[in-house]
Amino acid sequence: MIILIGGEKGGTGKTTLATNLAAKRALAGRDVLLIDTDTQGSASYWAQGRGESTARPRRVACVQKFGKGLQAEVLDLAGRYQDIVIDAGGRDSVELRAGLVVADKAYIPIQPSQFDLWTLDRMDELVGTAQGFNPGLNAWVIISRASTNPSVSDARDAAELLADFARLALSGASIRDRTAYRKAAREGLCVDELRPRDAKAAEEIQALYQEAFND
Ligand SMILES: Nc1ncnc2c1ncn2[C@@H]1O[C@H](COP(=O)(O)OP(=O)(O)OP(=O)(O)O)[C@@H](O)[C@H]1O
Ligand SMILES: [Mg+2]
Repeated sequence: MIILIGGEKGGTGKTTLATNLAAKRALAGRDVLLIDTDTQGSASYWAQGRGESTARPRRVACVQKFGKGLQAEVLDLAGRYQDIVIDAGGRDSVELRAGLVVADKAYIPIQPSQFDLWTLDRMDELVGTAQGFNPGLNAWVIISRASTNPSVSDARDAAELLADFARLALSGASIRDRTAYRKAAREGLCVDELRPRDAKAAEEIQALYQEAFND
């Protein structure tokens, strides 16, 4: 399975979701590759940190790939790994476009405070263009970094906005703002591995994991 986490807004939690999914996949015994397409290299730093941690399996394979060639490289790598998770940067990048053309599933994290039509419009358009080459592509918007104050309005607002976009569905998972995500990122872990364990964060990632990998 090739899963892309992408979107044009910065700081929405793309790298957080990509690293958590990749680590969980490795914990499940799958041969997974994390592809970092961001020149900031945050996913690569996470993987490096993991290599120095006590996590088991310690290593999550991670490579940095930039530029248009990404599409061909991912297709080549897909023959060598069971699963690929692509962290597709924060700009309107060639990597995001190239990744969408080879992914099975795309997740676009969006913060409730940043719900806006322009972002969704652009993403809907990018997904539509990619589907011209990659008809099997499915794309979801996932609410990310939502307030932990119990509220159903975020999901309702997002569902209302998304109703106008043919190619974007709302993920059944949603991610709230929790310290566990920041701590796990710093230590090269996924939230499942963090001690003390944050059961709520682990549940949120589990829901995304199941949806993404049908597992
Ligand atoms: N659910 C969350 N709860 C708490 N902190 C979070 C959460 N998601 C992300 N963060 C923190 O917010 C910051 C930005 O997250 P992250 O790097 O995952 O976003 P990004 O979309 O990859 O950003 P960029 O666009 O710069 O690549 C990081 O410090 C991260 O630890
Ligand atoms: Mg990032």
